[in-house]
Amino acid sequence: MLEKLKNIEKNALEKLTSVSSIDGLEQWRIEHLSRSSEVMGVFSQMGALSKEERPIVGQEANKVKQKLEGAFVEKNDILKQEALEISLSSEVIDVTLPGRKARPGGLHPATISIRKVLGILADMGFQTYTSRDIETDEMNFQALNFPPHHPAREMQDSFYIDAENRGDNPMLLRTHTSPGQVRAMREYAAADPQNPPSVRIALPGMCYRYEQITARSEVQFYQVEGLAIGKNITYGDLKGTLADFARRMFGVNARVRFRASYFPFTEPSAEMDVECFVCGGKGCPVCKNSGWLEILGSGMVHPVVMQNGGYDPTVYSGFAFGMGPQRQTMLLHKMNDIRYFWGNDIRFLQQF
Ligand code: PHE
Repeated sequence: MLEKLKNIEKNALEKLTSVSSIDGLEQWRIEHLSRSSEVMGVFSQMGALSKEERPIVGQEANKVKQKLEGAFVEKNDILKQEALEISLSSEVIDVTLPGRKARPGGLHPATISIRKVLGILADMGFQTYTSRDIETDEMNFQALNFPPHHPAREMQDSFYIDAENRGDNPMLLRTHTSPGQVRAMREYAAADPQNPPSVRIALPGMCYRYEQITARSEVQFYQVEGLAIGKNITYGDLKGTLADFARRMFGVNARVRFRASYFPFTEPSAEMDVECFVCGGKGCPVCKNSGWLEILGSGMVHPVVMQNGGYDPTVYSGFAFGMGPQRQTMLLHKMNDIRYFWGNDIRFLQQF
């Protein structure tokens, strides 16, 4: 038995000299030190030995086991050191090279444009009011004085939501921010129904229209709506406020003009143009030679809408306007394709 132990030790140590990798060393450990190895086999054969032999063989077997374990640790250290030296000499790091620049992130141009408009309106006393993206037909159209089946609805083809059968009041993605007018008025009026407070708010948000995507129209875009309700608010207030807005937005010399228009929820209605800031009004491709750029829709809040909002139209009056801040950005930067906004082309986004 003692002879056998000597051979086990000699054989194992001999094999260890030819081990040259961490993987090979693991193989060696399994073969020579695991439960099924020869040394461990000696321990399980002890029962067959005489009482006198047992301690002697046991001691010797333990010595061999410890020797092999020690040899394993030593070899492991050597192999690790070798691996470290190889990686140190092959993977040279040049600490004198300049680092890679981290590019700072930035706001999306559509976000910049909506914040600019909201900032100006805030300076003018319009508090931001956020309404919902998913609306009912009732709020998006009916409360705004669009009668059912009225052809004016076709100005704004809608994404209807097929969630449940809601008869003639289906859910849809808002086609404009105007339904927020009625929601806000109702909330303000609820505070004091007999004597509702005046309102001066800006309603920003995404709008959605079921349209062919082209250079000039997208299926989703931002709008910012303005609403002012109070006693004795006149059409003169509307004109003065919007002309002031244009000067703050496009420069102190910005000239504006109002053209009669039609919206079911305002009466009278007007669109506001600003003198083309590309050609100074002389006529160019951006203004299609008209000298003017269309900027927003506006009008005096219709009595029906006023009533739907909880305000008595014989006591209160007000004006509303709605604009597309992305369109203003396009005009300011002479962008010729609206699809750049959601195109996610980093070369476009980095310019802002
Ligand atoms: N909601 C109208 C649109 O989407 C714009 C508008 C808002 C017009 C408020 C008048 C008053 O075109």
